[in-house]
Amino acid sequence: MADDKNLPLPESNLVFGEGNPDCDVLFIGEAPGFNEDKEKRPFVGRAGQLLRAGIRELGWREQDVYITNIVKRRPPENRDPNEEEIASYKPYLAKQIEIINPKIIVPLGRFSMNYFLPLAKITRDQGKLFKVKEYFILPMLHPAAALRGTGAMKMFKETFAKLPNALLKVNSDNFEEAKSEEPTTKKPKLEDVQAKLF
Ligand code: URA
Repeated sequence: MADDKNLPLPESNLVFGEGNPDCDVLFIGEAPGFNEDKEKRPFVGRAGQLLRAGIRELGWREQDVYITNIVKRRPPENRDPNEEEIASYKPYLAKQIEIINPKIIVPLGRFSMNYFLPLAKITRDQGKLFKVKEYFILPMLHPAAALRGTGAMKMFKETFAKLPNALLKVNSDNFEEAKSEEPTTKKPKLEDVQAKLF
């Protein structure tokens, strides 16, 4: 990636991701911010501290999971990543996912969630377990959103607490049970419109 001159945002540092490449749970955020750019590590600012505290509160170690972003360099002024940036970094994220082959992917926030589930709505669908191709996806609010209000914080913590059970569920052979959490009240069903991303 460092040698790929076609990648956008070359003025920012590369923040590849960190953790255990043999992990069960892969957290994927949006793009690095100021602190992440400075330290070349993902989720090290305030939002990152919340994410990392959540991991530790489950009794897990940060180095047992993997943490990365869909876009690996900081957009100026922390603006949202645009479609071109997401598309440019996509082959690298796809390869990262393929190598790590996690049991559960946790997209943090709507950009990351929509990468896997283009029609999903973050407040409606966070906390539900989806299956996209061979991967189970448990979207969560972005921890930066959780820091903005008590309601969002409660939602973030409740979903975080679901992770160990979600892992048990996908580890059991009963995938049908996990699938049954897909939303059934809205049409079209998400499973009919999931993008072919990998
Ligand atoms: N927000 C993100 O989406 N990713 C980071 O690495 C830090 C903050």
